[in-house]
Amino acid sequence: MDVCPDIVSIRAFVSAARGSGNPVVLVPTMGALHDGHRACVEAGRAVDGGRLVVSIFVNPTQFGAGEDLDQYPRPLERDLELCRAWGCAAVFTPSAAEMYPAPQRTWVTVEELSVPLCGRSRPGHFRGVTTVVAKLFHIVGPDEAVFGQKDAQQALVIREMVRQLDMPVELRLAPIERDPDGLALSSRNAYLDASQRRRAAGIYRSLCGAREKIRGGERDPNAVVTAVAEELARGGIDDVEYAELLAADDLSPLGHVEGKVILAVAARVGTTRLIDNMVLNVTAAGATEEPVLF
Ligand code: PAF
Repeated sequence: MDVCPDIVSIRAFVSAARGSGNPVVLVPTMGALHDGHRACVEAGRAVDGGRLVVSIFVNPTQFGAGEDLDQYPRPLERDLELCRAWGCAAVFTPSAAEMYPAPQRTWVTVEELSVPLCGRSRPGHFRGVTTVVAKLFHIVGPDEAVFGQKDAQQALVIREMVRQLDMPVELRLAPIERDPDGLALSSRNAYLDASQRRRAAGIYRSLCGAREKIRGGERDPNAVVTAVAEELARGGIDDVEYAELLAADDLSPLGHVEGKVILAVAARVGTTRLIDNMVLNVTAAGATEEPVLF
């Protein structure tokens, strides 16, 4: 496996892979890898002959003031071992100086889709994400790229960027990986102490409760969201940033629960902000859970 710390070396790797006729599949990450990332690598493996490239870069421009940029875990040696074990062909590990050699004055912003949910409480977050992902796409030039369903809004924002800027890259999503009690895997779960970790499982329980309510015939989005809030409170999670049921394609509000919908939650357990979601396809015949948005 090649470890490429700079733009010159990753470009050399990619042009050699292309030269031998292999498509390049990028899995962008911020490191502190876990089975959610493994699922992205697995999804990338479905590309015939694909050479898998994982990027590991804790992107400062997507963190707001007072967020966890400095504490964000950076276990690079362990991450490289995992990438080797997962059969990756190369890992791109740029420094902040390599990615942002001068103050950034050029930004990629996706309007509207970046505004609700996480965009409301993390102003500038998606601008940082789309800018760094655009840079990674220009640097690596992948044929395909894989993102995780857990960051569903991020996936929609990136899909829109790719469409509107005509970027020649196919996107794939990998389903959410969960611990046995349902907690969605996240690098930030490492911040939770034992009692917070137990409480955090309540987020998934609240999504499952809402799913069952919809399966039981509830079609009023407010009633579903109220049930989520009640279940979170029962589980001792009272710092809820949002619990919303929206159209899965464009995050528009729903008057009635039907079609492909996304139930999205962000809550703080202790000081740790966790997000989770569930996608349902609601028809007259019932509600089926979809592993990914697209
Ligand atoms: O999902 C993440 O880990 C990050 O937001 C991403 C896509 C790697 C951009 O920094």
